Amino acid sequence: MSAPQPLPRPVYSKTSVFVPAITYAPPPGDAPWYPPVIAGADTLSKIHEEGDFIAASLALMERLTPDAYTTYLMHYCREGRARFGASWMYADIVTVLLCLSRTLKPRTYLEIGVRRGRSACAVATEAPYSGMFLFDLWQTGYAGIENPGPDFVRNELVKVNHRGPVSFFDGDSHVTLPRFFAANPSACFDLITVDGDHSERGAAQDLCDVLPRLAIGGAIVFDDIAHPAHPELNNVWRELILGDERFSAWSFRDAGYGVGFAIRKY
Ligand SMILES: C[S@@+](CC[C@H](N)C(=O)[O-])C[C@H]1O[C@@H](n2cnc3c(N)ncnc32)[C@H](O)[C@@H]1O
Repeated sequence: MSAPQPLPRPVYSKTSVFVPAITYAPPPGDAPWYPPVIAGADTLSKIHEEGDFIAASLALMERLTPDAYTTYLMHYCREGRARFGASWMYADIVTVLLCLSRTLKPRTYLEIGVRRGRSACAVATEAPYSGMFLFDLWQTGYAGIENPGPDFVRNELVKVNHRGPVSFFDGDSHVTLPRFFAANPSACFDLITVDGDHSERGAAQDLCDVLPRLAIGGAIVFDDIAHPAHPELNNVWRELILGDERFSAWSFRDAGYGVGFAIRKY
């Protein structure tokens, strides 16, 4: 039996793109003593806890075309609130993206794994002029739910008044991402979500492709780190993000399928 292959690793280079809302530049003439990121995952998780992003997520889902999953999730969140009030600690990809978009005000957003546009619409709600770069292969009947593709997602984005440019990259992300970055060698993003290929190596490869293209002060969001059907994803998150000093990270694994985000410090 052959030994398991180590996960691929991102290759970083220096980037001069900073997210203004979360980085500090000293007045001209002052030395930059500290690294530029002025607020990391601790601050952002507090904003997530104190802002009512569960209510914001419920309000968003009411605006979008319902499906079996969002119907379940709305009942689940209302029940959590009814039982535990403001003490209920819950996070998912949507609550986290709402919080990060409100705080970081991303100019650019890259997403792998768009499906029906719910997570992209969370970003659009808080950052209506953001430029969106959306990658998906539109797997038929993903999770037993219709997965209609770009036209459907465009309509959902219209419903939440997104006014920025939107580009779709249809196909396997392991082909479309390298092609995109080869054609756009200086492309860099303020906010990135990885929620496409859920295999261990596939998710790690997606992270490797996009992490070097995250701006300083930018956030990476990685979904499903507590998903019972995908236990390897937490390993990918631990190895590529929690084990890397360049990130300030927060993980939520208490309820639901779990989600993590991290801010790039350098
Ligand atoms: C979990 S869903 C995304 C959910 C979405 N982010 C949300 O929060 O509503 C995963 C999506 O990834 C897509 N996908 C799976 N493997 C992929 C791959 N190798 N390349 C591109 N997209 C992929 C599927 O078609 C599906 O639409």
